Amino acid sequence: MDQQYEDFKKQVKDSSDIVDVIAGYLSLQKKGRYYWACCPFHGEKTPSFCVDKERQFFYCYGCHTGGDVFSFVQKIENSTFPEAVKTLAGRANIPIPETHRTAADVRREEKRKDMYRVNDLACRYFSACLHKTKPGVAALEYFHNRGITDAIIERFSLGFALPSYDALQYNLIKKGCTKDQLAAAGLIWEKNGRCGDMFVNRVMIPIKDPRGKVIAFGGRVMDDREPKYLNTGETDVFQKRETLFGLDVALKPIREAKEAIIVEGYMDAISLHAAGVNRAVASLGTAFSEQHAKLLHRITEHIVFAYDSDDAGRRNAVRAVSIAKKAGLSVKVLNVPEGKDPDAFVRKFGRDAFENLVKNAWDGTEFQIRYTISQNNISELAGKVQCVSNIIPYLQECKTEIEAAGYIKFLAQQLVIDEGLIMGEYRKKTAMRLAHKNPAVQTPVHTAKPVSSVLEQAESKLLLLFFRDSGMIDLYKEILQQIGFASPVRQSIYEKVCELENEDFSTIKESLFAAGDAELNAETARILAGEDFAADTESRKRIADDCIRKMQQNFLQRAYEDHRRLAETYASMNDPRFEDELKICNELRGKITNLYGS
Ligand code: UTP
Ligand code: MN
Repeated sequence: MDQQYEDFKKQVKDSSDIVDVIAGYLSLQKKGRYYWACCPFHGEKTPSFCVDKERQFFYCYGCHTGGDVFSFVQKIENSTFPEAVKTLAGRANIPIPETHRTAADVRREEKRKDMYRVNDLACRYFSACLHKTKPGVAALEYFHNRGITDAIIERFSLGFALPSYDALQYNLIKKGCTKDQLAAAGLIWEKNGRCGDMFVNRVMIPIKDPRGKVIAFGGRVMDDREPKYLNTGETDVFQKRETLFGLDVALKPIREAKEAIIVEGYMDAISLHAAGVNRAVASLGTAFSEQHAKLLHRITEHIVFAYDSDDAGRRNAVRAVSIAKKAGLSVKVLNVPEGKDPDAFVRKFGRDAFENLVKNAWDGTEFQIRYTISQNNISELAGKVQCVSNIIPYLQECKTEIEAAGYIKFLAQQLVIDEGLIMGEYRKKTAMRLAHKNPAVQTPVHTAKPVSSVLEQAESKLLLLFFRDSGMIDLYKEILQQIGFASPVRQSIYEKVCELENEDFSTIKESLFAAGDAELNAETARILAGEDFAADTESRKRIADDCIRKMQQNFLQRAYEDHRRLAETYASMNDPRFEDELKICNELRGKITNLYGS
C-alpha cells in the first residue's frame, strides 16, 4: 500500500470515533465503560452488542461479530473495506485521494449523482406544474379536498404531472438531462424506439431518503381510474423494502416521541402529518420488511402499526408484528374503527381522537392472539386446538418467558380452557424448536464434535482417490500436513497410505486391511464402498482439489471457533488479549469467506 492511501486511511480512522459512528446507526446506552445496543447483525431483544470507546472496537457477545470502526461500517453497509473507508471519509468530509477513485467508483458516483439530480429536477418541475399551470388548479383542489394544506404540500414537495405524454422529458432535456438518465430514473418509458412520460395527469408524491433527497415518485390519479397509484420501479437509489416514506420529516418527531407510527399508504402518512401527527411513516406498497424494522430500530424502540382495519390490513399487521418483534422492537397495533384507514379516520375525527387510538392500541402479541381467535371457530374443541397451535409461534417471539406466560393466561381465558394445557403445549414446541436450532449446544469442544457429512464425504473421497492413484498424494502432502483430517481414524488411514505411496491399488487395500484395527478396517471398507472412481487424471485432480477446499474450510472454521471462545473468555475477564484474539478471528473469517466465495 502506498503512503498516501495509508495516511488517508489513518486520517479517516482518527476522525471517525467508533461511538459516534455507531450511534448514527444504533441507539447506544452507556453502562460502565461500554456502550450497549441490541446487535444489528442478529435478531435479539436484550443488548449484547458493546462498543469500547477507549479502545475503539465493538463486539457482540451474541453473534461474536467484532472489530474496529471500518469493520462495523463494512458489515452494516454490506460493503468492502475500501468502500467503508470511503463512506467514513464522506462522513468526516475528507476528500478521497484522486488516485484511489477507481473508474468504477467514478462511474457509479456519477450515475447516482445523475439519478439524484434528475429526480430533484423532476420534483421541482412537478411542483411548478401544480402551482403555475392551468391543469394544476384541479390537482391543487384535489389536495385541498383531501385536507392537505399548502404547508403540507410544501413539506412533502407534492406536485402534479401534466396531462401530456412528453411535458416532463421535454422540460428536463432542455435542462440538460439525457433520455437515458430519465429512463434510468424511471421517469420515462421506452419501447421500440418510442418513449413517453411515465406519469401523466397524476398528483405526484416524491419519495425521499432520510436525508431528504428525492429517490422515487408515486403518482395518484384524481378520479377512480386504474391503476390508482403508479410508483417508480426499483433503481440504484431506490429499494422499496429499505425505504420508509416520510422518514425525512418524521425522523425528529420520532426521536422526540420515542415512537413511530407505521401506516400502509403514503396518503395516510401525509394525512396524519396534516393533522399534526408528525411521527408517521409509510411502507411503500410493500409488506413491512426486516429492513424497515432495522431502519426503525436505529431510531426508536417503540412502533405502532396503524394499518387499514379491513382483513388484508389486519393480516398484514399480524405478519408485520412478528417481523418487528424479531428485530427487537416493542410493537403495538391500533384498531381504526369502522373499517376506515388512518387517513379517513383522522380527517373525520381529528388528531386527539387518533392519539386516543394510539393510547388504547393493543400490544402486538395481544393483537396477534385476538386476530387468530377471530379466524377460528372457538366454540368447538377442534377450533380451540387449531387456535392454540397457530398462536404458539407468536408466544415464542416474546421477549421473556414471563411475558409469554401472561399471554398464555389471557389465551386460556379467551378460549375457556386450562392454562396448564396451553403452557404444556408451549413448552413442548419451544423445546423442540430449540433442539432443532442449536443441535450442537451440548458439544462445545470441537474434537468431540461429530464430523459433518459434507466433510466426511470430502475426506473419504480424497482417501479413495489416494487408494486408487497413490501417485497423487505428493501433490497434496504439504497442505495436508497443515490441515490434516478431522477424523482421527481417517488421519491414520492417510498416514498409512502415505507409506504405501506409488504402490498399486490392491497392495494398498490389502496392506490397510492387514495392518489396521477394527475401526480402521471398518472405515477403509466404508470408503471403498463409496462412489465410482473417475477415469482421467484431469477430473481426479479436480475432485481432489474440491475435497481439499472443503477440508480447509472446516479446518479454518474449527480454528475460528477456538479463537472466538478464547476471545469471549478474555472479554469476560476484561483482559486486553481479547483484542488480539478478535483480530485472529477476523482474519480467519476473512479466509473462510474467501474460500466460500471461490
Ligand atoms: P390503498 O388502496 O389502501 O390506498 O393502498 P390509500 O392509501 O387508501 O390511498 P387513497 O386514500 O385511496 O389515496 C395503500 C398503498 O398501496 C400502494 C400505495 O403505496 C398505497 O399508498 N398501492 C395501492 C399501489 O402502489 N398501487 C395501487 O394501485 C394501489
Ligand atoms: Mn385511503
